[in-house]
Amino acid sequence: MTVNVKEVFDSMTYGPAPESSAEAMAWIKEKDGKFGHFINGEFTAPTKGFATRNPATGEELAIISQAGKAEVNKAVSAARAAFPKWSKTKGHERAKVLYALARLLQKHARLFAVLETLDNGKPIRESRDIDIPLVARHFYFHAGMAQLMESELPDAEAIGVCGQVIPWNFPLLMLAWKIAPAIATGNTVVLKPAEYTSLTALLFAEICVEAGVPKGVINIVTGDGKTGEAIVTHEDVDKVAFTGSTSVGRKIREATAGQGKSLTLELGGKSPYIVFEDADVDSAIEGLVDAIWFNQGQVCCAGSRLLVQEGIAEEFYARLRKRMASLRIGDPLDKCIDVGAIVDPVQLETITNLVKTHGGDGEVYHAPCDMPVEGCFYPPTLITDLHSASPLMQEEIFGPVLCATTFRTPSEAVQLANNTRYGLAATLWTENINLALDIAPKLVAGVVWVNATNLFDAAAGFGGRRESGMGREGGWEGLAAYTKPKTTAKKLAPVAPIAAPKSPVVDGLDRTAKFYIGGKQARPDGGYSQPVYGPKGHLLGHVGIGNRKDIRNAVEAAHKAAGWAKTTGHLRAQILYYIAENLSARAVEFAARLDEMQPKSKKHNGKAEVEATISRLFTYAAWADKYDGQAHGVPIRGVALAMKEPVGVIGALCPDEAPLLGAISVMAPAIAMGNTAILCASQAFPLAATDFYQVLETSDVPAGVVNIVTGDHADLGKTLADHMDVDAVWSFSSTPDLTATLEAASASNLKRTWLNQGHARDWFGKDGEGREFLGHATEVKNIWVPYGE
Ligand code: NAI
Repeated sequence: MTVNVKEVFDSMTYGPAPESSAEAMAWIKEKDGKFGHFINGEFTAPTKGFATRNPATGEELAIISQAGKAEVNKAVSAARAAFPKWSKTKGHERAKVLYALARLLQKHARLFAVLETLDNGKPIRESRDIDIPLVARHFYFHAGMAQLMESELPDAEAIGVCGQVIPWNFPLLMLAWKIAPAIATGNTVVLKPAEYTSLTALLFAEICVEAGVPKGVINIVTGDGKTGEAIVTHEDVDKVAFTGSTSVGRKIREATAGQGKSLTLELGGKSPYIVFEDADVDSAIEGLVDAIWFNQGQVCCAGSRLLVQEGIAEEFYARLRKRMASLRIGDPLDKCIDVGAIVDPVQLETITNLVKTHGGDGEVYHAPCDMPVEGCFYPPTLITDLHSASPLMQEEIFGPVLCATTFRTPSEAVQLANNTRYGLAATLWTENINLALDIAPKLVAGVVWVNATNLFDAAAGFGGRRESGMGREGGWEGLAAYTKPKTTAKKLAPVAPIAAPKSPVVDGLDRTAKFYIGGKQARPDGGYSQPVYGPKGHLLGHVGIGNRKDIRNAVEAAHKAAGWAKTTGHLRAQILYYIAENLSARAVEFAARLDEMQPKSKKHNGKAEVEATISRLFTYAAWADKYDGQAHGVPIRGVALAMKEPVGVIGALCPDEAPLLGAISVMAPAIAMGNTAILCASQAFPLAATDFYQVLETSDVPAGVVNIVTGDHADLGKTLADHMDVDAVWSFSSTPDLTATLEAASASNLKRTWLNQGHARDWFGKDGEGREFLGHATEVKNIWVPYGE
């Protein structure tokens, strides 16, 4: 065949550039096409299982064993047995193992890439140039974390056995995101890859042996959702880390409620991709190719909701359609392919049905690309003119389908962008840096890319807000998910209110303390109250019994005060100091109240508690303008700005053991970081908190920033955890058995929970304040800002 160079230049067509699958197929053949599990450093004999297929051809690649409870038990036992030694292994020794894994991953990079593409259907260009290099980078980065843990995180320790369940869209990368931080910090692991894509995890198991990973530190079991369920609910698993759909994430939250497990969830998204009219349109269109056609749109943070400023919308769509028409779809092993195969016929059917059912809400354009005749393929698709309530604008499609609408003003763009139950990522394009840095903080998302998209790095945390999950993976912030504070927590005994004496002493007028909601004193909606007695039989007053309606009012008030999040740290510090000053002016009165409420003992000393409370207010006044973010040195020409943002509305059940100090230890970090708070006062000794609103009233605290309700912790806590507009629930209550109820109820909107799990805390000591509280009061948002023209 003669090649006419001029013709090639004119047409710019590509010839095929296939990558060979020979080595990967030989590796599978070496195992007879059948795989067992990797438990305690060895492969088990293959058992009954299921086929894993190449979605581009439908060809069966191998048979994967289905782990039942027995295999999961064996893997968890191996991880448990390995934990004591591994968690005590010197950081440097752990670092060497992670480094060896990184080196071996690089050495076998091509085999990993081809195997990934065969099993998943993603273009080799992506597995070779993006997935596998990022996997190696993750192990390098966390080798460093292992090395530095002792010096940089002296108060942290490993959690224990981690049960990790991952999806099929980035099989090896998700494995790296889970395993690297876990073993770097001294945990041991039982990981289950997704049923469609187990092969690279099994190849990884092989290199674990070569890298000298001690037996039992990493265990890999294969299987479907049932295997996943057996892992995450296993009673000897201390930490669960899951990436996958929001519906399964919610199930996991419910299934693990009350088991005392630490939990991180990285779930779905419907991330906005905002194009302002001054954007560099060519770049924004190339960005979109990455945002929604990368990995066939099967990306949790895919920029699947395009929001274009009205003035440029028609031209933008026209240019986008033109670009879409030139995308090459086909054999994922061809190096010139842009769009590969959908992972499985089931996923293809989901995508097809969603577009068929709701496509009529807008105008559907399928790119006129040459489509392969066989295999699991879906054409790049753009659906314009959608209204924001259309399921196509709200549901995660997880396919190469871009849904679009227009906006007029920046504030409308923000409103549309945030009109979703998710909050994973967001992209914005504008040549105006002031606009970009004004909009980025307003977007409810864990990651924001400015004039770029889908940038990832081990040094920058990744994770979502709202129903996109909880916790971060990567960066220093990601380590919090795999460590816990070194404490020897004692069991918390229930603190009972003082029972009604036979003949109460009633002196003076009976006073009923009201609630404090939206800056005003409020009567309980139900009209019920209860008496509070002192240890000597005195009736000290009455407090209201809060109900669902009172909590709803408090949540509404807390939301109305959302402007608090935008105040400066300096202002919040001044207000916290002012609260301290006003409490100090009434110290004698507060000390007397504490003394008359609680039985006299060494522990209960009103004067000391008031002094400690004033000091605590100073602590958070100090922190309000010092708990800074970071500029991550990510490998681009630019930075990732890790900004600490408030979580939102925090509902807290305050401690019973130190009724004033405890309430303020909860309130102060929350409001110092810009949250608004609903405090349910100590159930046993509520009057210290209700007296405190008089201090708040005189201290310039804006209405709704702090709301105080009294009543039954079990009832109030459940109502807070059920409420869709509460972002986090904290409980330091001494009421037993609240954990299971609160965690199960929090699944409603996947709110964050921070619960004492029945453990006591020394409110007077260093456990009563500091970074642990600040960490729970904030979320990290990484804003990626590239430099240069
Ligand atoms: P999935 O959430 O069901 O699967 C993810 C992983 O969880 C797999 O390893 C699976 O075996 C496991 N799993 C399933 N049920 C479980 C349970 N009850 N307990 C513990 N583990 C369980 O996702 P699937 O079915 O593969 O995809 C369905 C939809 O989920 C997709 O169409 C997409 O919209 C979304 N998805 C989102 C992902 C993301 O990263 N945001 C990743 C994968 C899927």
